[in-house]
Amino acid sequence: MRTGLALKTQEKYQPMKGPKLAYIKQSLYKQLEEKEASIAVVGLGYVGLPLALHMASKFRVNGFDVNSKKIVQLLQHNDPCEELTSKDFDDKDITFSFDQNTLADAKLYIVAVPTPIDKHKRPNLNPLKTATAMVAKYLKKGDCVVFESTVYPGCTEEICVPVLERISRLKFNKDFTVGYSPERINPGDKTHTFTQIKKVVSGSTPEALRLISKVYGAIVTAGVHEASCLKVAEASKVVENIQRDVNIGLMNELATLFSAMDIPIKDVLESAGTKWNFQNYFPGLVGGHCIGVDPYYLIERAYHFNCKPAIMEQVRKTNESMVEHIVKKITARTRLMLGNEPKRVLIKGITFKEDVNDIRNSKVADIVASLIDKGFEVVVEDPYAKPEEVMYEYGFTLTPDNEIDNTFNVIVMAVNHSVYKNIETLEPQLAPGGIVFDIRGTFRHLATCHTYVTL
Ligand SMILES: NC(=O)c1ccc[n+]([C@@H]2O[C@H](COP(=O)([O-])OP(=O)(O)OC[C@H]3O[C@@H](n4cnc5c(N)ncnc54)[C@H](O)[C@@H]3O)[C@@H](O)[C@H]2O)c1
Repeated sequence: MRTGLALKTQEKYQPMKGPKLAYIKQSLYKQLEEKEASIAVVGLGYVGLPLALHMASKFRVNGFDVNSKKIVQLLQHNDPCEELTSKDFDDKDITFSFDQNTLADAKLYIVAVPTPIDKHKRPNLNPLKTATAMVAKYLKKGDCVVFESTVYPGCTEEICVPVLERISRLKFNKDFTVGYSPERINPGDKTHTFTQIKKVVSGSTPEALRLISKVYGAIVTAGVHEASCLKVAEASKVVENIQRDVNIGLMNELATLFSAMDIPIKDVLESAGTKWNFQNYFPGLVGGHCIGVDPYYLIERAYHFNCKPAIMEQVRKTNESMVEHIVKKITARTRLMLGNEPKRVLIKGITFKEDVNDIRNSKVADIVASLIDKGFEVVVEDPYAKPEEVMYEYGFTLTPDNEIDNTFNVIVMAVNHSVYKNIETLEPQLAPGGIVFDIRGTFRHLATCHTYVTL
């Protein structure tokens, strides 16, 4: 408390350098540090909640989300994404609310709302525009708004800033500033956690950049990287995800080719991977909220500039086509080995990746629909996914593990959850002569080749 007073007094006597905004921004950090002003985090999902809690270890934070059910859970220190434990809420200076009036108190806003695609695979910026409009209602002179949602380069300045200006009636870079800081969090990954991942930051003025850098730098142990401008920061995020999409796309193309040539792709990759500069990527399904979605943001932007993003477009098609390739492989092998009688299939895992409960854009759900379409009787189980969400999103139920019998002709290992890593757990569920179709190839060194299939 004494230190706070001392700093404030010192600041009063410092000669003011540069434009007025520079003074406001320098003192805004101190206001935040001394908890005279607060940070509002708008959107408390996989990205917003860990961010808000880490911010709350140093600053005063208002966590805001439109989902009232989520807020009730958060007030009970319960993370609906199941990434954080109740301990992560301990000793944090944070409030949770679905009342937008709580935004009035903040001076730094961080927006982390969804940026999905529509049914034509075009960016759906509605949640981002709505959240920005909400922030704009409470925006005051000297405030700063940082966007974390993944977007195409230019989106912050071309879409969000006009909304902020129109509703707040304030002038961009005179009365308020903005920043963009993409999130790189990797749900389910216990090594690359929030504080251990270098944070890319950018600001619309040098002062805004300084403020944002200092705020994130105060909580991210790995430090910050100051991007040269907002568009660079926005582009860097989509490029990170597109690079993964392209590399996995190449593996998927090779998997399809080698499958036709009867060459095991995993053995090929293991061999090639012994070279010092070979990059390890694996074939598989590309779903979820990032890699299967973000490339469409840049693709759409490329059209706007009359550019043809041929590689990105093709890779999206290749990765999307893996569902069909896998279903064909399951169908062909089942007919060959078990004949044409109707078959029971057990699908293990519905989430978009291992060890998370996130089912958004799950390609396994497409496999389920396609197999049902082809006359298979399909049972799905997943220890992480929430049955009510699966029913709401995809219209089928999950079967609890203890209700799964031993009559399955095919088991599809769809997701690499760590609890699935023991092949012995599969045997009691498989009918005599049954087939294991292991998409990720987890068991390829353990299984007998005539009942085991992988990509
Ligand atoms: N999930 C990831 O691993 C990840 C990683 C990096 C970047 N991103 C990006 O971060 C952004 C957020 O993703 P997420 O996975 O956290 O999404 P999420 O769906 O888990 O969370 C978003 C939250 O925003 C809330 N929300 C929606 N509209 C709102 C509004 N107007 N005001 C306040 N809250 C609102 C929702 O209720 C939800 O709780 C997206 O742009 C995504 O692409 C996600």
